[in-house]
Amino acid sequence: MGVVALVPAAGRGERLGFGMPKALVPVGGVPLLVRAIRGLFESGRVRHVVVAAPPSDVDQVRTVTAPLAPAGGAVHVLAGGAERSDSVRLALEHALAEVPDVRVVLVHDAARAFTPPTVVRDVVDAVLAGHPAVIPVLPVADTVKRVDTKGVVVDTPDRSLLRVVQTPQGFDAATLRAAHESGLHATDDAGLVERLGVPVVTVTGHQDAMKVTTPFDLAVAEALLVGGTG
Ligand code: CTP
Ligand code: MG
Repeated sequence: MGVVALVPAAGRGERLGFGMPKALVPVGGVPLLVRAIRGLFESGRVRHVVVAAPPSDVDQVRTVTAPLAPAGGAVHVLAGGAERSDSVRLALEHALAEVPDVRVVLVHDAARAFTPPTVVRDVVDAVLAGHPAVIPVLPVADTVKRVDTKGVVVDTPDRSLLRVVQTPQGFDAATLRAAHESGLHATDDAGLVERLGVPVVTVTGHQDAMKVTTPFDLAVAEALLVGGTG
């Protein structure tokens, strides 16, 4: 079926402040990256994962992640780049060169380690159904204001039309390749694809797919484990 997941995991985790790359920070004794990869494989839709690892930790990441691959699959590990988009681009180039018959590419942050496998499945299935770009989203709970550079409110967007975006984001392989070769810039992969004029559709995300960014988020992640959903 040719589904490969790229896992950008090369960030330094500065806002978490754990003194090590965030992907390697353990929650309940298991590194975030390992949890993220397990979730991808548990979806039953993914057989190959390409990890963009912190350059200083490539060997360690290889050792820790190799046993996670299912029969007939593999975890490929390479050094990530300076920015998240560089890490994704490097992982994509590797996937297209090394993994046979790639039809669908997922991009999934290691930091969203508790994403339920059902979300992965829904994203893949929507791409396989013919949508070139698919993202998991949730409604916005807070009212959101747009402000000017001085912090003065400009307007209040209609909240019912706003969504927060999670990963994995899923793409037809040729679409993601074109997006990354375009030289455009955006804060997420779907943003690049939007700029190409390709429609991006949404599926329902999950609150457990929250991104672990700060110590508060790490405490929430620990609580997810205690609650039994992680
Ligand atoms: N990432 C990456 N390569 C980079 C920067 C980030 O692969 N050069 C990855 C991170 O490892 C993470 C995801 O992109 O899985 C989202 O980034 P973020 O949450 O910002 O993680 P960090 O960059 O590690 O955190 P911080 O910005 O606090 O340093
Ligand atoms: Mg970052």
